[in-house]
Amino acid sequence: MPASDLEQIVNLAKRRGFAYPSAEIYGGFRSSYDYGPLGSLMLRNVKDAWVRAMVQQRDDVVLIDASIISPPAIWEASGHLANFTDPLVDCTKCKQRFREDQLDDPTLCPNCGSRDSFTASRAFNLMFKTQAGVVEGAGTDVYLRPETAQGMFINFMNVLQTTRKKPPFGIAQVGKSFRNEITPGNFIFRTREFEQMEMEFFVPPADGQQWYEYWCNARLEWYVNLGMPREMLRLRPHDPDELAHYSVGTSDVEFLFPWGWGELEGIAQRTDYDLKQHAEHSGQKLDYFDQATNERYVPFVIEPAAGANRTMAAFMLAAYDEDVINGEPRTVLRLHQRLAPYKVAVLPLSKKDALTPTAKAIFETLSDRYMVDYDETQAIGRRYRRQDEIGTPLCVTVDFDTLEDKAVTIRERDTTEQVRVPIADLLTELNSRLGF
Ligand code: GAP
Repeated sequence: MPASDLEQIVNLAKRRGFAYPSAEIYGGFRSSYDYGPLGSLMLRNVKDAWVRAMVQQRDDVVLIDASIISPPAIWEASGHLANFTDPLVDCTKCKQRFREDQLDDPTLCPNCGSRDSFTASRAFNLMFKTQAGVVEGAGTDVYLRPETAQGMFINFMNVLQTTRKKPPFGIAQVGKSFRNEITPGNFIFRTREFEQMEMEFFVPPADGQQWYEYWCNARLEWYVNLGMPREMLRLRPHDPDELAHYSVGTSDVEFLFPWGWGELEGIAQRTDYDLKQHAEHSGQKLDYFDQATNERYVPFVIEPAAGANRTMAAFMLAAYDEDVINGEPRTVLRLHQRLAPYKVAVLPLSKKDALTPTAKAIFETLSDRYMVDYDETQAIGRRYRRQDEIGTPLCVTVDFDTLEDKAVTIRERDTTEQVRVPIADLLTELNSRLGF
């Protein structure tokens, strides 16, 4: 059973070190989270799994890493300065601020219950603006990027000229984006600072629709391949009035969160909007000359744009389970092995010195390949429970027989089955169980 309540994951995240409320020692910083020892590993695994599928396993997509701080010219051209806004209303009675489009009743304040107390709606730009330069008040206005996508458009020519790619091909990026969200919340679902995993796929205009359908399906399958139950996912096409200013068609991959369906990723048909905008505003040519057909054209763009943080939350929610083993209840995070913070835990049965050299040697061998936890405190049963709760797929137990038979026990998280394996075969056995 996946988690039915967000609090189950929020508590586990805090208790085990996945995510802590940020700046807690100063009373907290609203809706911000710091990723702990396990969360930082898992978030990295989500991003690595994305890069693996979107870049490593394809010959038509390359990766870049563009600047976060960016000049207004980019956002002028992209349309974000004019259009990247939410409609905002203030309640004149309780002074709370709301997104007008998220109110159930646009005349009723959900905080204080006042009727007709809202100010007129204002367009609130979500971009964070700051100043570059050392002289107070005399710096240049700059923005923290609200999406990674523009980095790919402004580097389109650089990539075209420095690689041997030609349409259809993609430029991918993983990195932080910032939005001054009016209503952040639901744990790491909506925060002001978050990480995106975006890819701009440049295609001949006539092939736009075909590639849009391809990427909608491919992206949905990515989640399923990483263990997300298909029934917790759906692909939802946007209504025309929902479309972003750059899109002629968007479908969201949605996940069934405890509060209902929520977006994990949008796949958008951006046409030639962005390249044309940047070409016009920069005065540079941003097109492609196809020598085979002797044609010059501005490619269309299909964009799968996902959020790493909320994807991590969704994987945790879907993997959460409670069952009973030998009459004892346990919490288990049935994470896919690629996403689990630790792939293996090495557990010497006792803290006694006799087992330490063998256990440490196994840790050293395995940790050369993947993240391995090493834990020698508490009873073995409690240590298994802890590893189950943080999603470690396999435990390796070193006991006193190990010193005689040169073998260890492998215990599986999901079935709790145990098998004895010679140390000489351990790496091969673990790799085959992990599918690496
Ligand atoms: N370049 C297109 C773009 O940025 P988006 O739908 O605004 O599209 C893409 O963002 C993804 O980024 C979303 O599907 C979501 O997963 C993630 N995302 C957007 N805003 C977020 C926020 N405030 N907190 C966490 N993730 C967010």
